[in-house]
Amino acid sequence: MKHLLSIEELSADQINLLLDSAVRLKAERGYHSEQPLAGQTWAMIFTKSSTRTRVSFEVGIRELGGFPMFLSKNDIQLGRGEPIKDTARVLGRMVHGCIIRTFAQQDVVDFAEYSGIPTINALTDDEHPCQILADLLTVKEVLGSWEGKKIAFIGDGFSNMTISWMWAAKKLGFELAVAAPATFQPTAEFLAKLDAPNVTITTDPVLAAKGAHVINTDVWLSMGQEDQKDKEEAFGPFQVNASLLANADPDHIVLHCLPAYRGKEITEEVLEKHADVIFQEAENRLHAQKAILVALAEK
Ligand code: CP
Ligand code: NVA
Repeated sequence: MKHLLSIEELSADQINLLLDSAVRLKAERGYHSEQPLAGQTWAMIFTKSSTRTRVSFEVGIRELGGFPMFLSKNDIQLGRGEPIKDTARVLGRMVHGCIIRTFAQQDVVDFAEYSGIPTINALTDDEHPCQILADLLTVKEVLGSWEGKKIAFIGDGFSNMTISWMWAAKKLGFELAVAAPATFQPTAEFLAKLDAPNVTITTDPVLAAKGAHVINTDVWLSMGQEDQKDKEEAFGPFQVNASLLANADPDHIVLHCLPAYRGKEITEEVLEKHADVIFQEAENRLHAQKAILVALAEK
């Protein structure tokens, strides 16, 4: 594994190895005895806001012995239109790895190609692989495994989060039910490429939630969509609230990648009732990403 650009390109074995490593790193906590990033500088290019991803990568890189260099788009010439392939060729000659949060997946792919250094997707419009690895780690910790479990995703059916979850289901074989408004569902073209009979898509949130062991949701307006207020109108029935959860398995857990918009995709009551697991999920960003960094530093 040279880069971590998507869940789509990972195998089940790679996902399982990363999660096993995350479990070990979490048990060790804090500074990693082997310091695999000693003497290394890792750039972090962010063209979108972040709390969890930024902090967990900065802390994780330090705990592994490296130096994180945060570069918001306003600080570097990328924000003034310098092409990603030029940025990549400069950074590739100076730093040891790069973490990128941006809009187009192609920018992350191009950065990896032109820089030649390990590159990690910290969220694009197409995927959020680091988050899904932390979510899978949380499911493993709390439910033991995803095997034999039904996972439901209620909300935007074709966002970075849902796309990464659909690829995870394809690779790992668990049942994934996505409930989304008709106009915010995965395209037929995507579903043909996914080719996963264990992934079902519906407009009925109750059907998706029925018997589910994990109920997952995310914002209705992803970063970059803030002015699409009319989009929200379609999502009313897709709120994760107590009455929807009454359909789930009695021992269900709720996941939310955060930030959460209470009163929109999730109620205050549900978020606070499930806060222990939701913030365990947030903490797991650190452990899952340290596992990614260790795997990439080994190459
Ligand atoms: N879940 C997540 O990626 O959070 P941030 O946007 O705060 O990094
Ligand atoms: N779908 C959300 C995820 C935030 C972590 C977004 O892209 O804004």
